Amino acid sequence: MRFLPALVLVAMGAALPALSQQLDGRTLFTRADKGHCIACHQVPTGAGPATRSDLGPALTGARMRELGKPSLKALVHDLSGANPATSMPPYGKHKILDAGEIDRVVDYLHALP
Ligand code: HEC
Repeated sequence: MRFLPALVLVAMGAALPALSQQLDGRTLFTRADKGHCIACHQVPTGAGPATRSDLGPALTGARMRELGKPSLKALVHDLSGANPATSMPPYGKHKILDAGEIDRVVDYLHALP
């Protein structure tokens, strides 16, 4: 039992770096080693980097809120059900983003101006 506090500290030490590495939705949307959504989508001025990407539609807050979070999660997970020929990667199905990361990207989309 004397070892228990030490074990708890070791466990916390192992968990903390993982927590501090949790990326926010905008970062997940932007980073090339994560969603890299900006390769295909533009977002409103100020909400992310300015790009000329137009392979996918420009994403606006009004449209994102019209779609709603459940649909956004589903389409980021895998859009190929709705359009088998889509060029958008199936982020959930191919485990490019995990469920928590998809939730944070969707929160970011839903809050776009
Ligand atoms: C390789 C290009 C590409 C990438 C990368 C990409 N998308 Fe897409 N996305 C598309 C295309 C093309 C569509 C249009 C729907 C279709 O293909 O049927 C689309 C559609 C969407 C839609 C629906 C838009 C609407 O108005 O209906 C959302 C939301 C979306 N993408 C979010 C994302 C997010 C979030 C990421 C990153 C995690 C991402 N996309 C990455 C190509 C891409």
